[in-house]
Amino acid sequence: MKLFFVLVFVLTIPVIRAQVPHWGPCPEPSVQPNFNLKQFMGRWFEIAKLPAQFEKGRCIETNFTMRTDNSIRVVSSEILKGEVRKIEGTGVIEDIKNPAKLGISYSYVLPYSPYWILSTDYVNSALVYSCTDVLRLFHVDFAWIMGRKRSLPESTIDRAREIFANNNIDVTRMISSRQQGCDKTL
Ligand SMILES: *[C@@H]1O[C@H](CO)[C@@H](O)[C@H](O)[C@H]1NC(C)=O
Repeated sequence: MKLFFVLVFVLTIPVIRAQVPHWGPCPEPSVQPNFNLKQFMGRWFEIAKLPAQFEKGRCIETNFTMRTDNSIRVVSSEILKGEVRKIEGTGVIEDIKNPAKLGISYSYVLPYSPYWILSTDYVNSALVYSCTDVLRLFHVDFAWIMGRKRSLPESTIDRAREIFANNNIDVTRMISSRQQGCDKTL
């Protein structure tokens, strides 16, 4: 039994970090019907996210572009301690029957993490969810509200939170991302 808990602990260190795990397996939210990957490409700003973490970078944005091999180039950037930091990853549609369920990996040694587009109109906002089951005992999840601009109307954010909640995703701890004073620095 002791070994079991040590194992669970070791297996989950990379995914846990600051967030509180929830009991039970991942929820199974519905995703954007007829997801159009091409329209989703381009620049998205992080408007709000789950979990609440310690103040890290600000001005977080991600630029998605198609590579010639049909994988997705994912470049995320943030400003941390006055410096722009970028990381590049790769996104893929893991199951062509479920095109809104992407997987993203930021290193070739890491497996793809789920990156599900729950809802998007492509031109204003997008709701993204990522959840990992740990032995079906508990799950750790991330959720993001993203915008094509650095801010979204309060009504859009409220609606987004409602969609998460209707899919059994607890977003009470969701926090706004800092997108102020970004264009001056970049
Ligand atoms: C997004 O990536 C593409 C391809 O590398 C590049 O041409 C474009 O300028 C980038 N856009 C932003 C806002 O970084």
